[in-house]
Amino acid sequence: MTPTNLAATTGTGLEEWLAAIDRRTARVGIIGLGYVGLPLALLFSEERFRVTGFDVDATKVSTLAAGNSYIHRIEPDHIQAAQRNGFCATTDFAAITGMDAVLICVPTPLNEDHTPDMSYVVSTIESIAPHLRAGQLVVLESTTYPGTTEEIIVATINRHGSAKGLRVLRGETAGLASNELDGVMVAFSPEREDPGNMITPRREIPKVIGGVDVRATAAASALYGSVFCKTVPMSTPAAAEMTKLLENIYRCVNIALVNELKQLCVPMGIDIWEVIEAAATKPFGFQAFYPGPGVGGHCIPVDPFYLNWKAQQFGIQAKFIELAGEVNEAMPSYVVQCTARALERNGSALKGARVLVLGVAYKRDVDDLRESPSLIVIEKLRHAGAQVEYNDPFFPEVGRGRHYDLHMLSTPLEDLDRFDCVLILTDHSLYNYGEIVSQAKLVVDSRNATRSIDSSKIVRC
Ligand SMILES: NC(=O)c1ccc[n+]([C@@H]2O[C@H](COP(=O)([O-])OP(=O)(O)OC[C@H]3O[C@@H](n4cnc5c(N)ncnc54)[C@H](O)[C@@H]3O)[C@@H](O)[C@H]2O)c1
Repeated sequence: MTPTNLAATTGTGLEEWLAAIDRRTARVGIIGLGYVGLPLALLFSEERFRVTGFDVDATKVSTLAAGNSYIHRIEPDHIQAAQRNGFCATTDFAAITGMDAVLICVPTPLNEDHTPDMSYVVSTIESIAPHLRAGQLVVLESTTYPGTTEEIIVATINRHGSAKGLRVLRGETAGLASNELDGVMVAFSPEREDPGNMITPRREIPKVIGGVDVRATAAASALYGSVFCKTVPMSTPAAAEMTKLLENIYRCVNIALVNELKQLCVPMGIDIWEVIEAAATKPFGFQAFYPGPGVGGHCIPVDPFYLNWKAQQFGIQAKFIELAGEVNEAMPSYVVQCTARALERNGSALKGARVLVLGVAYKRDVDDLRESPSLIVIEKLRHAGAQVEYNDPFFPEVGRGRHYDLHMLSTPLEDLDRFDCVLILTDHSLYNYGEIVSQAKLVVDSRNATRSIDSSKIVRC
């Protein structure tokens, strides 16, 4: 792709910037074309914006250039339709100058010691800062601790810009912010997507926005407001950063609670899923969360530790966060113990047992392995001497990743009576659970996927 300088708003004020959004002449650059960035690029493209995607992964860029997709739920047709609308992808960050808005969607994982790994955010802003110009809007979408936008994004832009007199725009008070765009606008707007959720379309998830000043909030609200059903402007980037963490910590803590209650309900002979469904009939004050073999994905097991790390800088121990992490991280061991007990009751030992794990994705119907508890369960089963195979329609093979080293191929779902136990870890909707139960000798179900099947072969854990 040729770097362009077709920015619609160079050298103009906020009103012209907003008009360029209305006219769809504003150019949108998305940095990081992963699970968040690529669908976001397609959303803007559907709304007739000319979108350029930036990624350091040349394979992703060439896959997109060929009109193909590397994310299961995105069809090549969708990429090709966007291309007809002007969408292209590049590894050339010089093209940033031609954008009016630059939205950053790069990873924010954890280091081994559970501290934030900010290297992707830092290297992204270091790469784009030399190419920024007055009148552009830069938005960080990556989930992170409160203070990141100011401490990393704003600070880096100001450091790079100082030689050429470019700064991040900051009105001292709302009243002082003018129409003039003689600097860079910066905001934080978290991605709140729920992968695999077919009920709430992404554009119907309100977009929380916290700008460094009112011009940034206004510009980001106009941009996202043209794609999303609703925007939620906030007073600062830090408040918006904290909002995203509150949402994910709320999930993490509540999942830990039901995971703990599940472990209590099993010996009491109470069905935790029945209890949750009954509690959920209350029209107020209760939201249903469900137990499982642990938590996975790029958000729930990771994000709470971002806040925990920041809390320590303020001398505060985030006890809820730590306890929830502890309970959720213990779930894979609990599932392995349940499997061992179920096998014993069936007359065999875990050591030497043939176990088929169903589902390695971190949750139902997604092609995402990140932080999946299934991978930990497999490692623990192997460690206990079990002969483990797996099946997952989304993953023909599982090799080596950040926290695992498995090198396994997906086993076809046939002759299930070869296995001493079939262990359901991810309840993909493609599976025919009735057929699985009828073929298997023993089924250990950590997801209540077999809820409608009555069979003595099933052990729910
Ligand atoms: N996946 C989700 O469901 C989800 C939901 C809400 C929020 N988030 C947050 O969104 C952010 C992105 O997550 P994701 O799931 O899309 O990650 P991802 O790993 O799927 O995609 C990130 C992309 O960024 C690219 N990249 C890395 N460094 C780069 C750089 N310096 N310059 C340009 N591109 C670079 C990678 O090659 C990759 O394509 C994270 O902060 C995550 O916590 C994710």
